[in-house]
Amino acid sequence: MNGLRAFSIVIVALMFLAGCNPPPAEDTSGTGGAGAGTTGFMSEGDTIKIGVNLELTGEVASFGVSCLNGIRLALEEINENGVLGKKITLIEDDNKGKGTEAASVAKKQVEVDNVPLMIGAAASTNSIAISQVAEGKGIPQVTPASTRTDLTVDKYGNVKRYVFRTCFTDDFQGDAIAKFCWDELGARRIAILYDNGQDYSKGIYQRVKETFTKLGGVVASERTYDAKVDNDFSAHLSQIKTAKFDVLVVPGYYQQVGQIAKQARGLGIEQPLVGGDGFDSPQLIEVGGDAVEDAFFTTHFSADDPSEKAQAFVSKYKSKYGLTPDAMAVLGYDAMKLCADAIERAGSADPEAITKALADTRNYPAVTGNITIDELHNAVKDIVVMKVENGKFVMHKRVEADIPEIDEASNDEEQVEETVGGDGADSDGETSDEDAASTAEGQGDTEGSE
Ligand code: PHE
Repeated sequence: MNGLRAFSIVIVALMFLAGCNPPPAEDTSGTGGAGAGTTGFMSEGDTIKIGVNLELTGEVASFGVSCLNGIRLALEEINENGVLGKKITLIEDDNKGKGTEAASVAKKQVEVDNVPLMIGAAASTNSIAISQVAEGKGIPQVTPASTRTDLTVDKYGNVKRYVFRTCFTDDFQGDAIAKFCWDELGARRIAILYDNGQDYSKGIYQRVKETFTKLGGVVASERTYDAKVDNDFSAHLSQIKTAKFDVLVVPGYYQQVGQIAKQARGLGIEQPLVGGDGFDSPQLIEVGGDAVEDAFFTTHFSADDPSEKAQAFVSKYKSKYGLTPDAMAVLGYDAMKLCADAIERAGSADPEAITKALADTRNYPAVTGNITIDELHNAVKDIVVMKVENGKFVMHKRVEADIPEIDEASNDEEQVEETVGGDGADSDGETSDEDAASTAEGQGDTEGSE
C-alpha cells in the first residue's frame, strides 16, 4: 500500500512539475509543426536525437542491458543509410529500475536534450512513470517491452495520445498463462505468488485469476511479496504448501523467481512452476539453477524460431555480442527499427508528426512479428511458451494472436475518445478504469486466502 501511495504521490508531483494535465486529444493543432515537414530544434545539424530510458543498473538490469544491446544493433543498421538524410544519435540514460528515476530521466531528455522521441522503459512501472512526462510534454514514448495492459490508457480509459508499445499486453499474456495451466498442464487449482510492488506482476496476477476462474478453475492460494524489501519467501511458500494445488504461478521478474523456485523446491513444493516474460533472462537460470528446470513461461520470442528473419537477427546479435539474444534484446531491436521507420514516414523529426506516424503503423515487419498499432496503441503479436530444459530455454509452443481489424476511421482523435471512453466498453478485454481500480483495491487482502 505504501509503495502504491508513494507512487501516486510521485505521479501527482510530476504532473505539477510538468505544469499541466495531459493535453486533451483535440488540442494538438496548436503545438505547431504537425506534418509540416520541418525538423526544427529537435534535430541538430545532421543528427536526430532519440532518448533511451532503461534499467541499466538495479534489480532488473538484465532487461535494460539486453534491450540496449538490441537498440544499438538496430542503430548501426539504421545509420548505414540514415533517416531523412540524417544520422540518429541516442541519449542513453539509466533509470536504475526505479519509477522516480525513470520520470526524472524523461524530463531531462525532453527539457535539456530536446529529444522528439523517447524509447523506454522495460519494466511496466517505469514506463508508466515515463508516460506521465510523455503526456504532459507532448513527446512520444515507445516502450519495446512493457506489457501492463493499462499503460497506454489513462484512468478514464482514454488512450494516451503519446504513449505506444511495440509488444503485446498482459491481458493477452495472462490469458495464455491461464489457458496453458488449464489445457496443457491439466491444472484445476493453482497457487499464485506475485510482486505487489510491480504493476506488471499485479496485472498478470489479476488476469490469470480472472481467466482461470472463468475456465472453471480455482485459485487455491494467493500471496504477495515486494521485491524491494523481500528476499526470503519461505513464509509465503510454507503457507502455499498447505493448500491443495496443481501449478504454482509466479508472475515476477527473474531475480525473485529464481530465489522463489529454490526456496519452493527446498520446502518440498514439487508442482510445476509457470510465469510470464519476467522469467526471460539468462539470469533466471544463474539464480534458480536446477530449481527452475522444467519451468514454463510465456514470452515474445524464441531464439529457436526457424524463420529466416529470426535466424538472421540471432546470428547478427551473436556475432556482435557473443550471446544468444533473449526476448528483451530483440524487442529493443524491433522498437528502434520501428522508430526510425516512423520518423521516415513522418518526413520530419517533429514530435507531433512522429506521434501520428507511430499511430498509423500497419504491418511493420518486425523480427518478433508484424507490428500494427491498434486504437489503444498496442501491438498485437503471437506469444511463445518456453520451457527450461537442461538449463536452457527451449520453445514449447507458439500461441497465435487474433490480429484485429483496425477501424481506420477511428484514427480521427474524437472517435478514438468515444470508442475507448464510451461506456468503458472493453469487450476486447483491455483493462479499463474499473479494472485498474480493482487492481489497486485488491492489494490489501490477498494474504492467506486459501
Ligand atoms: N513485460 C515486462 C514488464 O512489463 C518486461 C519484460 C518484457 C521482461 C520482455 C522480459 C521480457 O514489466
